[in-house]
Amino acid sequence: MINVALPKGRLGEKVYAMFEKAGYECPSIKEVNRKLVFENEEKRIRYFWVKPSDVSIYVERGAADIGVAGKDILLEYRPDVYELLDLNIGKCCMAVAAPKDFYDNGVRTLKVATKFSNIARTYYNGLGREIDIIHLNGSIELAPILGLSDVIVDIVETGATLRENNLEVFETIVPISARLIANKTGFQFKTKEIEAVARKLGEMIQP
Ligand code: PRP
Repeated sequence: MINVALPKGRLGEKVYAMFEKAGYECPSIKEVNRKLVFENEEKRIRYFWVKPSDVSIYVERGAADIGVAGKDILLEYRPDVYELLDLNIGKCCMAVAAPKDFYDNGVRTLKVATKFSNIARTYYNGLGREIDIIHLNGSIELAPILGLSDVIVDIVETGATLRENNLEVFETIVPISARLIANKTGFQFKTKEIEAVARKLGEMIQP
């Protein structure tokens, strides 16, 4: 059996659709219920729905052989896994955003609100800029509106959340997309099977 951690939610639906098209269907996954584990014995595949930010934990620790995680999560948590494939879905970017009238004099310590503290720290270290990180767990856009921070470092997909809150992108840090990842030990034992999944998924990637 190959154990696959899928990110629960909209991205997960797209990811499963790719596995299905690639020949790894599991019809029971479409039943409307609260189950989290689905398997197709004939195809030797078992899927788990996990919180998107937890996929890399399941894979790193070997509870799943493979999984699909956003590059944002991989950059933030640096799990010790193989990154096999860029699936070219879940595309967005990591950016610095601020209120439209924000002016940065480049000198004083910048207050940065973010869910991605490591990405923000690495980015500003690279610029030699001193920052004060305010780690939040969601609704990051609120921080500069309420004066909690000067800027935010967050995911921008359509840009709608920024626009509707009078914020705009100041700098783009890195493009993000969903990646197929594999447990390092699992990959040694199931190399052929995992490579076959990666190859067939690769054929499903839309440009
Ligand atoms: C993410 C991200 C932004 C938003 C960007 O939030 O943190 O808030 O999506 O998408 P957009 O550019 O298409 O508007 P998410 O929905 O994951 O919720 P969160 O507030 O819990 O981070």
